[in-house]
Amino acid sequence: MKVAVFAGDGIGPEVIEQAVRVIDKLSIKELEMVEGDVGASAYRKHGHPLPQATLDIARSADAILFGSVGDFDCDDLERHLRPEQAILGLRKELDLFANLRPAKVYAGLEEMSSLRPEVALSIDILIIRELTGDVYFGEKGIRTLDDGRRQGYDIMTYAEDEVRRIAHVGFKAAQGRRGKLCSVDKANVLETSQLWRDVVIEVSSEYPDVELSHVLVDNAAMQLVKEPGQFDVIVTGNMFGDILSDQASMCVGSIGLLASAAMAEGTMGLYEPIHGSAPDIAGKNIANPMATILSAAMLLRHSFGREAEAQRIETAVASALADGIRGGDLGGSAGTSAIGDAILARL
Ligand code: NAD
Ligand code: IPM
Ligand code: MN
Repeated sequence: MKVAVFAGDGIGPEVIEQAVRVIDKLSIKELEMVEGDVGASAYRKHGHPLPQATLDIARSADAILFGSVGDFDCDDLERHLRPEQAILGLRKELDLFANLRPAKVYAGLEEMSSLRPEVALSIDILIIRELTGDVYFGEKGIRTLDDGRRQGYDIMTYAEDEVRRIAHVGFKAAQGRRGKLCSVDKANVLETSQLWRDVVIEVSSEYPDVELSHVLVDNAAMQLVKEPGQFDVIVTGNMFGDILSDQASMCVGSIGLLASAAMAEGTMGLYEPIHGSAPDIAGKNIANPMATILSAAMLLRHSFGREAEAQRIETAVASALADGIRGGDLGGSAGTSAIGDAILARL
């Protein structure tokens, strides 16, 4: 059980510190953690956001626990040197194509949702975001047209096998939940989405027990705040999934609560909160570490099959929340390390 721990930038190291304390507390003998540099901090030390040594650690690990990368001071660097390339590079290099982003309201936290409490209470969604394709990884650049105007471009593509494998993840997840899969696309405008929809329909014949629907992404964004209880599993492309999952986080109360798993075929996965490096609150011990701690629970479950330990962590987080242990993002005043203390005490 070799876990690579990449803390990264901004609040990354603060929230990772608490997640590592939680993992340590479980005293799993076989589990070993190895640290590596990513993001702006890696760039400053080694001249690259994803140094070869880090990639080597990642490749030799069974799972990766990731904090966050991003530093607005690096926004003028050439794109391949920007901090975000660390996470994009790891996803691509390790073929971490299936991003699971669960969003569920904790009892008592419905008041913190941006939605009316009775609407918030109905939320129990698994967003499955394709993570290695789409407009993120197509040809891109800024070119000068014949008439001298600059033009930016990012090519959106999905090949059918890329859609097929994420569709299977979606259908299987739905089978293990309430049996409903909603595929979100923009097939009314985009050819990429038309192929996405066609392939999802083809795959659906293998899952007659799953109820499949298709919703256009603009409508999906609206339905997510109007009637989120209608969604069980959502499967969507890289870009739409990025946006809808941040939106879902505020529906459940805070982005500081949403964990994620980015899986390859098999059990290799990278686990990270869905939030970023939050430069506005970094270094103040006020970030909520729960999303990262819950990501550690997903790591134990999905990479190592340690369901009991995963549930121990999730129960401890739920119990801390139920006891009113809340960070500033949830209207409370508990600091990052105090939230870690509270969860450790409940383990
Ligand atoms: P962000 O998610 O970092 O922050 C958005 C807002 O949410 C901020 O107000 C922040 O303070 C708050 N927030 C985020 N996490 C929180 C937590 N755990 N507790 C309390 N509040 C929290 O998004 P942004 O500001 O758009 O991006 C900042 C940087 O992070 C950018 O450089 C971006 O590229 C990067 N980013 C990285 C990842 C990643 O590493 N996977 C994900 C998203 C953004
Ligand atoms: C996320 C982030 C990343 C993404 C960025 C930092 C590249 O927003 O993990 O949600 O867009 O995938
Ligand atoms: Mn995002």
